[in-house]
Amino acid sequence: MTSRRLIIAIDGPSGAGKGTVARALALALDYRHVDTGGMYRAVAWKAMRDGIDLTNEDAVATIANSAAFELSHGQVGIDGHDVTAAIRTPEMDAAAASVARLPKVRAALVERQRAYGIEGGVVMEGRDIGTVVFPKADVKLYLDASPEERARRRSQDPSHAASKTNAGVAVVAEALAARDQSDRTRAASPLSKAEDALYLDTTGLTIEEVVARALAAVPGRG
Ligand code: DC
Repeated sequence: MTSRRLIIAIDGPSGAGKGTVARALALALDYRHVDTGGMYRAVAWKAMRDGIDLTNEDAVATIANSAAFELSHGQVGIDGHDVTAAIRTPEMDAAAASVARLPKVRAALVERQRAYGIEGGVVMEGRDIGTVVFPKADVKLYLDASPEERARRRSQDPSHAASKTNAGVAVVAEALAARDQSDRTRAASPLSKAEDALYLDTTGLTIEEVVARALAAVPGRG
């Protein structure tokens, strides 16, 4: 087993299983887990709370540059507020996708994400980790699943408010498709698979199967 602490990048669309796999890998390897989507969500939350227009790039970027994030054990905090639950609502899905389109916000968060991971021992999940944040990551995984499966998972995700409404899978699927479209077509760092990432289609696989395949891609753990 290798003793060097690696950088593991996990990218893919919503509902592909990134969070579950990233948490399991971090636990198995005793690495830090960084959910970068939580950072975009927290920035959007703070901007809304401060009454800042989400299209005001400079003002939102100021938050991204200066906010204190607390990211540990699945909790997301910003400037002393625990926003773990508040950021997982359909409204915050749209708000986070909106701020994630702004290049200055991305530049600020990418710099902070690099600081979290630079020494290794990290499993970082997002949309641009293997392509932009850590193009030289030791392990790159790109998780995907069919749109139907992703919508089904999202509508059953207990940490997401959509699962507590009676929205139904069809409504969740529609919102997910709109957000995917935004993430894939934006000008700044759109979601895409790094050429050297391992593509894992998780449709129809159990969590255990996906985690086993992901672990098999980690040098020394295969
Ligand atoms: O993974 P998530 O659903 O919590 O991400 C929230 C939003 O942030 C989503 O629209 C994608 C975007 N995002 C991004 O653009 N880059 C990242 N590294 C992580 C998330």
